[in-house]
Amino acid sequence: MKTDKSDILTCLRNSGDYVSGQQLCDRLGVSRTAVWKVINQLKEEGYRIESVPSRGYRLVESPADVYSESEIASRVHTKWAGKRLVFFESTGSTNPDAKHYAEEGAPHGTTVVADRQTAGRGRRGRSWESPAGRSIYFTIVIRPAFAPDKASMVTLVMALSVAEAIHEVTGLDTGIKWPNDIVVNGKKVVGILTEMSMTPEMNEIQFLVAGVGVNVNQESGEEFPEGLRGTATSLKMESGQQFDRAGLLARILEQFEQDYETFERTVNLSGLRARYESRLVGRNAAVRVLDPAGEYTGISRGITETGELVVERETGETVLVYAGEVSVRGLYGYV
Ligand code: BTN
Repeated sequence: MKTDKSDILTCLRNSGDYVSGQQLCDRLGVSRTAVWKVINQLKEEGYRIESVPSRGYRLVESPADVYSESEIASRVHTKWAGKRLVFFESTGSTNPDAKHYAEEGAPHGTTVVADRQTAGRGRRGRSWESPAGRSIYFTIVIRPAFAPDKASMVTLVMALSVAEAIHEVTGLDTGIKWPNDIVVNGKKVVGILTEMSMTPEMNEIQFLVAGVGVNVNQESGEEFPEGLRGTATSLKMESGQQFDRAGLLARILEQFEQDYETFERTVNLSGLRARYESRLVGRNAAVRVLDPAGEYTGISRGITETGELVVERETGETVLVYAGEVSVRGLYGYV
C-alpha cells in the first residue's frame, strides 16, 4: 500500500526538478525528519538524489531495474489500475493473493505484484515457473457490473493491452495467439490466467482476477524449464536489450485501464476489435482447432465482437470457436 517512500519518490519523479524539503512535508503531511529519513533510505537503495540546501532534493538517477513497491507506485499514473498496490519479494502465486484481498473488500484495480512465485499457476492446471529478478508477475482485481458470460472477454482485453504496452516500450512486434498468449517471433513471452469468483447465488460476478506473467530479462532459453525451450522466449532474448520491469508494468496498467474502460462502455470488443485483429497471429492462415469433440482445420478470419475466433472450414461452413477447452494451432509449430 502507499507509503511515504513511494509518495516522495513520486513527487521527485513527477517534478523532474528540485523539490524543497518543506514542499515535501506540506504535500505529504509528514515531518522534516521523516522526509530526511526516506531520502536516506532511497539513497541506500541506489537512487541518486542531489540535495542543495537552498533548493531541496532532485532525483538524478534511479538504479537499473529496481523492482519494489515504491518504485512501481511512483511510476503508475492511473485512476484505478494498480492505484492500490501490494508487492511481495516472494509469494506462492499472485492470483490467490489477489482473490484473498478481493474477498476482504479490496477495490477495483487492486494489483498484487511479486518478484518471485513459488507456486506460479498456468492455464489448464499447469504450473508457471516464476524465478526472481527476471519477469513480471502480477494479478489485478476487477469488479465488473456485467454478467458472468461476458467475463472471458476481459482476458482478450488484457492480452491486447499487454501486447501494445510491450510493443511501445520495446519496439518488438508482438502478436496475440488467440485468445490470450502473446508471442514474439513465434514464441511465447506472456501468459494470462483469469479467474472468476461468483456471488453465493451464482448469478453475478463477485470479482475477477487477471494474472499476467511476462518473460522480460531472461538471457537465454536455458532459463526456461526444459519442456518450454522451443516455445518460450523473453523480451531481452528477442531484442538484445535489458528492460526495466517497473516501467513496463506501469505502462501495462495504464494501457489496461484505458482499454478496460472502452470495453466496459459496450461490454463487448467492438471498440478494441480492430486493434486486436491487427495483432492476431495467423489471421487468414490455416489453423488446426483442437476441439475435444473432434479436431478440424480451417482458415482463421478474425474474432467476433464477443471474442470468439472465426474459422472458415474447408467445407465452406463458418465456425465460431469459443475459448476454454479448445486450443488453436497454426499448421506448423506452436503459433
Ligand atoms: C498460461 O498458462 O499461459 C497462463 C500463465 C499465467 C501466469 C501468471 S504470473 C502472475 C499470475 N500468478 C500466477 O500464478 N499465474 C499468473
